[in-house]
Amino acid sequence: MAYQHIPVLLEEVLCYLDPHPGQVIVDGTFGFGGHGLRIARAVGSEGKLIAVERDSRTLKEAEKNIAFSNYPQLTLKQGNFAHITDIVRSCALDKVDGVLLDLGVNSYQLDSAGYGISIKQNDPLDMRIDKKATSRTALDLLRSLKEEELANLLFENANEYRSRRIASLIKSNITNIKSSGDLARIIASGVSSRGRIHPATKTFQALRIAVNDELKNLEQFFAQVLQVLNTGGRIAVISFHSLEDRIVKNNFKKEPWVVINKKPITPSAEEVKNNPRARSAKLRVAAKR
Ligand SMILES: C[S@@+](CC[C@H](N)C(=O)[O-])C[C@H]1O[C@@H](n2cnc3c(N)ncnc32)[C@H](O)[C@@H]1O
Repeated sequence: MAYQHIPVLLEEVLCYLDPHPGQVIVDGTFGFGGHGLRIARAVGSEGKLIAVERDSRTLKEAEKNIAFSNYPQLTLKQGNFAHITDIVRSCALDKVDGVLLDLGVNSYQLDSAGYGISIKQNDPLDMRIDKKATSRTALDLLRSLKEEELANLLFENANEYRSRRIASLIKSNITNIKSSGDLARIIASGVSSRGRIHPATKTFQALRIAVNDELKNLEQFFAQVLQVLNTGGRIAVISFHSLEDRIVKNNFKKEPWVVINKKPITPSAEEVKNNPRARSAKLRVAAKR
């Protein structure tokens, strides 16, 4: 049985992105196709879905579930949505009618061994989602940053208010840190937990964001996407933390964007109950004037 990732805010994405038969849509974060395949069905055989995913392991796993031959309108591209212009051009197209980004990581990446992004697994401290495109691991980062730089990174990327204490713990134990388990244990040895949340949670988030350039990718995406979006075309972005949401919100304030939903759309209590990973999701949608 292949892995299942439950798509977040699925009906809301379909309602607001509003894909029509014959349209060309980019799913910039295809993952397990939870959103992408529904969009592919909506655009139909006359339309096109360009499905972008940066993680080759996720794509291999997704292929166990998805009969891609049933979706001739789907073109799969391993790559980074930050390069949306090149990706669209590589499909011999100039413009598209809509783009979806469902940011962050999928459940398979969090639950499986080998990525090093989860506190629950004991893996080498790597955290690279695309090992070919990224050379620096999380361990390289911890070793190269000075204590103050590390504290700043934890504060800036994850609002970790205990950043100085954690940076000091990490740097004074750096020779003992090789794995995600070592890092989680060393942080827990000097910082208390908040409720049921592990005290290293924000540190893991901050490092993953830095290693994979997640915020830079989103900024680069916004710097490019208007070139390839048709007038009237829509962008829907699901973000999972305030830094991503701020980038989306600030970009949508600029010309020529017209915001479709003034307040971000969040999951219902029912959705969060069925899929706790949806709890911090925020969907923003805008159209190109
Ligand atoms: C939240 S998951 C998307 C899940 C998908 N919507 C679904 O329902 O199956 C985010 C996915 O985006 C991928 N990803 C993250 N950053 C990316 C980037 N810059 N370019 C392309 N894919 C990216 C991750 O590897 C992950 O598979």
